[in-house]
Amino acid sequence: MIHLTDREFQELVDFIRGNFGINLSKKRLLIEARLFSVLAEKNISSFTEYFSLIRSNPEELHTMMNRLTTNHTYFMREPRHFEFMKEVILPKLTENRADKCLRIWSAGCSTGEEAYTAIMVMKEWFGPCSGWDYRILATDISTKVLDAARTGVYSADSLRNLPPGWEKRYFRKQEDQVYLLSEEVKKEVIFRSLNLMDAFPFRQPFDLIFCRNVMIYFEQETKNKLIQKFYDSLKPGGYLLIGHSETVQRDTVPFRYIEPSIYQKG
Ligand SMILES: C[S@@+](CC[C@H](N)C(=O)[O-])C[C@H]1O[C@@H](n2cnc3c(N)ncnc32)[C@H](O)[C@@H]1O
Repeated sequence: MIHLTDREFQELVDFIRGNFGINLSKKRLLIEARLFSVLAEKNISSFTEYFSLIRSNPEELHTMMNRLTTNHTYFMREPRHFEFMKEVILPKLTENRADKCLRIWSAGCSTGEEAYTAIMVMKEWFGPCSGWDYRILATDISTKVLDAARTGVYSADSLRNLPPGWEKRYFRKQEDQVYLLSEEVKKEVIFRSLNLMDAFPFRQPFDLIFCRNVMIYFEQETKNKLIQKFYDSLKPGGYLLIGHSETVQRDTVPFRYIEPSIYQKG
């Protein structure tokens, strides 16, 4: 096992916080454990040598972020958001909308379960041939999770919270405990790589943004700036859904509080 020196640890923590917002200052052992095999594969004998590699090679930086991000997720996670979508968000957003188009973003989408769940919810709500365009943009910094999301292969464990009947309707069992998501759902989500610390490249504002269980790793100031960027990227009346353990400091952004983890742009 190769250990980080105090100086190397601080350098890495500052680099990741500065570029990706993620605070790993209490995760020394996690960093060493997750990067150990990368150094071993490359025959690198110190973290100092490794840092000069990641600073000069974007591919290596991707590999490091693929290792260091925490990507746990599953279908129908925090189901209150999807209930609220059916009960409030969809009825409100579809009222008097001539263009029949919803703009939805899953920011920090990991392996895609959040965006795909939202598509299934909308398929059930709109029914077939509604004429509505409700494709979702889903983004993450980890290229590894984005590749997995595009493939759409999931374990039985990831499907465990789905309502009865949805597994049969939207998945094909491939082998024991392995399920392939239907093309009908997959084609409704567009996956892209995006670092939430960067300026957002969108020209049109969104109706609904999911950013759940992403900001838990960010410091308060980084969160406040990001929440302001989400506010600026929403249409008036649009919604922001965050993780249940997260909060928006309302004195810093004019979001209207609806209920825990649900906010609306006034
Ligand atoms: C725990 S997953 C959340 C997945 C899903 N939103 C959910 O609630 O189940 C957190 C994701 O945020 C991504 N992430 C962390 N920092 C990011 C950043 N600066 N820009 C984009 N994505 C980031 C990670 O790569 C990871 O896939």
